[in-house]
Amino acid sequence: MARQFFVGGNFKMNGSVKQITDIVEHLNNAKIDPSTEVVIAPPALYLLLTREHLRKEIEVAAQNVFDKPNGAFTGEISVAQLKDSNITWTVLGHSERRTLLQEKDDFVASKTKAALDGGISVILCCGETLEQREAGTTVEVVTKQLGAVAKEISDWSKIVVAYEPIWAIGTGKVATTEQAQEVHAAIRGWMGKEVSKDAAEKTRIIYGGSVSEKNCKDLAKEKDIDGFLVGGASLKPAFVDIINSKQ
Ligand code: G3P
Repeated sequence: MARQFFVGGNFKMNGSVKQITDIVEHLNNAKIDPSTEVVIAPPALYLLLTREHLRKEIEVAAQNVFDKPNGAFTGEISVAQLKDSNITWTVLGHSERRTLLQEKDDFVASKTKAALDGGISVILCCGETLEQREAGTTVEVVTKQLGAVAKEISDWSKIVVAYEPIWAIGTGKVATTEQAQEVHAAIRGWMGKEVSKDAAEKTRIIYGGSVSEKNCKDLAKEKDIDGFLVGGASLKPAFVDIINSKQ
């Protein structure tokens, strides 16, 4: 079964009104492969601005969402508030939040459940440190992160899994096509056993970590790489080349 190619742009804590307006305009005028699903994730402050001006075929994602419906949670944003603002996706479990903000697997799982219950699709991130890779525990680490989510939910149809090896994020050190394919295949194998054959077949597993216009075409040829989650390069005009990497 063919899975639709998916490219996400994670702006992280970058951009200004002017820069984001320029990126949106560039995307609006670009020739984009209509068979690729594209989602961009600007900082929370710019979600509404982005949604208002961005062409409708491209969806907008938050970079995080909280798992409580409303109330005294200073600094947080709820699933209902995303819905209310026509934001249809959220990134969750990014390694920067797992490491810098100490987000644990069960908290990521709880937020994933809250997002899906409220009708928000999820780009669910997982990935290992260099130390863990060198210790040979990559698959164990990522399946443990995903396993926490599998305990909370059984329907994976609104989840895109993003495999992001931490050692490749923002370092210019991209995983080789073989390294990425190997982990993607292992995640798919794990899903087949722990979730369902159907979920394993249908769930998009995308790669993140120093994806650029130079390496995207080779990565995109791998059987289990269904797209990308792009950081730094999503802020540049070359993001369009990455979106079109299947062409
Ligand atoms: O979420 C995307 C990401 O962490 C990869 O960032 O800058 O290496 O493309 P970058």
